[in-house]
Amino acid sequence: MYGLVNKAVESLVLSKFGQDTWDIIREKANISGPLISMKSYDDQVTYDLVGACVEVLELPVEDVLHTFGEYWVLDVAVVNYSNLMDAHGMGFVEFVKNLDQMHSRIQMTFDNLNPPSFQCQELDTETIKISYFSERPGLTHFVVGLLSGLGKHFQEDVNIEILATKADGAVSDDFKVTHRPISNS
Ligand code: HEM
Repeated sequence: MYGLVNKAVESLVLSKFGQDTWDIIREKANISGPLISMKSYDDQVTYDLVGACVEVLELPVEDVLHTFGEYWVLDVAVVNYSNLMDAHGMGFVEFVKNLDQMHSRIQMTFDNLNPPSFQCQELDTETIKISYFSERPGLTHFVVGLLSGLGKHFQEDVNIEILATKADGAVSDDFKVTHRPISNS
């Protein structure tokens, strides 16, 4: 994956756990020099980084991926790519429906991008089934974190249920998501 993904893991660890912990994780993941945003790295670099976080922070991999998903939306995408985020939807459902289009736009800059794909089926006004397609294994809980982050960004109360996973032999990871505007009363 592109370096900006790996760099986001770095900034998440630095902000929550500090430089010393990042140095241990980086070493465990065999990352020597600085990470470069626009360089396309082998996916194994990202998997090794996540694995090193699991070991060093003593957290379940599901928690690491979920936290990284929320962080990616709320502290990377919304902050560094606000134009792209704003241009692809005003609410949770509209945005999720436009995710493929958004990654296509990103592909214009990142020409080696191998993006995921999302299919949506609205079951009723508050429920949507989202199917996530990717050539990459093991990212189910990253997507749960991303969807949860999108709920927070659009101020919608989002509940995510995993219906099927590729790990269990399905062709896609499927989620049933209920979404309601957060009421301020
Ligand atoms: C607007 C900011 C965003 C940018 C710049 C961006 C860019 C990227 C990049 C560079 C990758 C790595 C793929 C590669 O290098 O081949 C990636 C992967 C991914 N992105 Fe985005 N993305 C953004 C927002 C989102 C959002 C909001 C979601 C929410 C669902 C999302 C879902 C994913 C997933 C699940 C992957 C993992 C790749 C896979 O599953 O195969 N992205 N994105």
